[in-house]
Amino acid sequence: MNDLTPTREERTAKLKGLGTSRKRVEDVRFTQGKGNYVDDVKLPGMLHGDFVRSPYAHARVKSINIDAAMALPGVIAVLTAKDLEPLSLHWMPTLAGDKQMVLADGKVLFQGQEVAFVVAEDRYIAADAVELVEVDYEELPVITDPFKALEPDATVLREDLEPGADGAHGPRKHHNHIFLWEEGDAEATNQAIDSAEVVAEEMVYYHRTHPCPLETCGSVASMDKVNGKLTLWGTFQAPHVVRTVASLLSGIEEHNIRVISPDIGGGFGNKVGVYPGYVCSIVASIVTGRPVKWIEDRMDNLMATAFARDYWMKGKISATKDGKITGLHCHVTADHGAFDACADPTKFPAGFFHICTGSYDIPVAYVGVDGVYTNKAPGGVAYRCSFRVTEAAYFIERMIEVLAIELNMDAAELRRINFIRKDQFPYQSALGWEYDSGDYHTAWDKALAAVGYDDLRKEQAAQVEAFKRGETRKLLGIGLTHFTEIVGAGPVKNCDILGMGMFDSCEIRIHPTGSAIARLGTISQGQGHATTFAQILASEIGIPADSITIEEGDTDTAPYGLGTYGSRSTPVAGAATAMAGRKIRAKAQMIAAYLLEVHDDDVEWDVDRFQVKGAPERFKTMAEIAYASYNQAIPGVEPGLEAVSYYDPPNMTYPFGAYICVMEIDADTGEHDIRQFYALDDCGTRINPMVIEGQVHGGLTEALAIAMGQEIAYDELGNVKTGTLMDFFLPTAWETPNYTTDHTETPSPHHPIGAKGVGESPNVGGVPAFSNAVNDAFRAFGLRHTHMPHDHWRIWKTANDLGLHG
Ligand code: CDP
Repeated sequence: MNDLTPTREERTAKLKGLGTSRKRVEDVRFTQGKGNYVDDVKLPGMLHGDFVRSPYAHARVKSINIDAAMALPGVIAVLTAKDLEPLSLHWMPTLAGDKQMVLADGKVLFQGQEVAFVVAEDRYIAADAVELVEVDYEELPVITDPFKALEPDATVLREDLEPGADGAHGPRKHHNHIFLWEEGDAEATNQAIDSAEVVAEEMVYYHRTHPCPLETCGSVASMDKVNGKLTLWGTFQAPHVVRTVASLLSGIEEHNIRVISPDIGGGFGNKVGVYPGYVCSIVASIVTGRPVKWIEDRMDNLMATAFARDYWMKGKISATKDGKITGLHCHVTADHGAFDACADPTKFPAGFFHICTGSYDIPVAYVGVDGVYTNKAPGGVAYRCSFRVTEAAYFIERMIEVLAIELNMDAAELRRINFIRKDQFPYQSALGWEYDSGDYHTAWDKALAAVGYDDLRKEQAAQVEAFKRGETRKLLGIGLTHFTEIVGAGPVKNCDILGMGMFDSCEIRIHPTGSAIARLGTISQGQGHATTFAQILASEIGIPADSITIEEGDTDTAPYGLGTYGSRSTPVAGAATAMAGRKIRAKAQMIAAYLLEVHDDDVEWDVDRFQVKGAPERFKTMAEIAYASYNQAIPGVEPGLEAVSYYDPPNMTYPFGAYICVMEIDADTGEHDIRQFYALDDCGTRINPMVIEGQVHGGLTEALAIAMGQEIAYDELGNVKTGTLMDFFLPTAWETPNYTTDHTETPSPHHPIGAKGVGESPNVGGVPAFSNAVNDAFRAFGLRHTHMPHDHWRIWKTANDLGLHG
């Protein structure tokens, strides 16, 4: 029976759709320790693999003796490159079009490189056997500095590459050079800079760091030789891509490979690439006929998998005397380590670095990026960012601060003068992007007002005077940032990885009693997709979010998609979800009209039902329509209520934000105290404000880590100095400040529900805010720029170098 009792508002609230702070449904199992991670997969007869890793950063492997290891009871096999070579699996393609050794083939190129894979009955035996493998190394000269790598007489690192041959991205100008990638108009930019009234120059280094998710990487491979089926569980941010690559590498047909990403304990880009451990576990399972598990330990993870950043960015920015920017020039020396294994769309070997004009209307710009080999781990992954947008945001936000110093101008005002105006959107940037929507001035004014900016500047000036009089040893830094993000790769015409176009997908099945399951090509690593994608659907199809199961990560059931990284889930799979929902609704409209005995055009949608136009008391709810779709013969309409959408976005989305960090610094100890952190984010339509706030808190804490201490550092022999959590800074509640979050809402004009991504915004915007605060604290004493990470010692040294210690 039709029930008119609940009001429209009550019916809307019951859906828990868009804009609702619905509690995260996945937390019930996570908070009770009931998650199912890769290491929870335990199969009968399962073996365990572990790597012999190189202690040297560069050495020739003269011999490998596995006899003692094989003699250890419980050891089943020890694989070396020689074993993989007949299968052509001793090298593998990287996402960047280079190739990478799976196991050391003649030499090693970074500390921690995989040399041999031991397979044993349990993890302890495997670890003992690793110690028994004898490898005879001959040390070679080590290069950890990308500038030295390009010197004419630098040691040849990649002997496997023809010296004069082109790389995946065009000509190589030196034996340790990977590519030169350029964007923009070099000539016009140089002219603008040469003829400018004011020019600021700076070398901005974004140091090497690491995503360091709580769960390390791992896989379990199980080859069923009877049925010819390979099942692979793993920490994969892109399970379908892994299936395709596994098929291409192994020759096993794709329908015979099932890849499952179960619960994942944080990805942050670390779990996008394909690692030797995945390949070796597959080979070992094929060779032994038993399931093989490989789980990294923390040191393996920090030393050998997927570093991030390591960009030396040399910038020039020009302006008129009154602060209007006239040009931006940037040359990057990008340290990619031993193999080019960056996770970037094929066309863009420096990812989206050319978003580096940021939030500003800059008429001409040029970027050139030289990729360079060194004796460091490969990677270059998007650590909670859309490829290289974090480096770009840090670069421009530092250049703005340096220009403000050159102009002797307030940095907030300089930003305001140069922001892209609201009426300029869609905005074509000098480096080729079309920004979809934005209202930067409103966000900026709101942020400055919220922190009491003018008063803060007065307080800062007074504190500088007090410092000079010797009345305090504390300095106040005000870290300003206005960032523009670019998230949601595709479109397919611009973005592919290894030829695989970057669309995404959603498939919905409505059950007869009016509940539903939706499967997506993405995979949550903690972002709460099971909660939020159900909310998109609830608003689209009028079924309560609580009655919709969201499933991801099993290639046998989920539609093909490119996975979750670079905040692409909401812009791409979220859009696919809305579009699939709309297909359901279109069919539901026909069914409702039939049931109500009116023409299709005479019914209209209302929250959770179709009603007859002008007669709202005559309606059919989605639950009634679902039941009828299965159980009532409707002329011209197939039974069932299902839909699938593969969504190729017409453009990226451009979230933005205004962040302000107020930090007090002790000039004598280098310690910092974050007094206030204000974060305003605009991610378009907000699906779940509580989830967004959680994303912002997490990303800001990662940004704090990166800016204030986290790094993967090497000594001159290529030893990793920060390979454990004793040295690699991971903030706890103790170091984490209180964050004030805020928002404006400027929908994306091309996304079906107007949503933009948000997951990585706080990392992208947070790093420059923290770093600018440190730099700003010393501005009155003549500092232009000091490199991250700003740990206590480096801050102390900055103060010392400026002569502040008397
Ligand atoms: O791709 P990833 O899931 O890492 O990033 P995202 O698309 O930015 O989404 C992160 C989380 O925030 C997801 O649960 C989204 O559904 C949610 N979100 C939201 O509630 N509203 C937005 N406008 C954007 C994201």
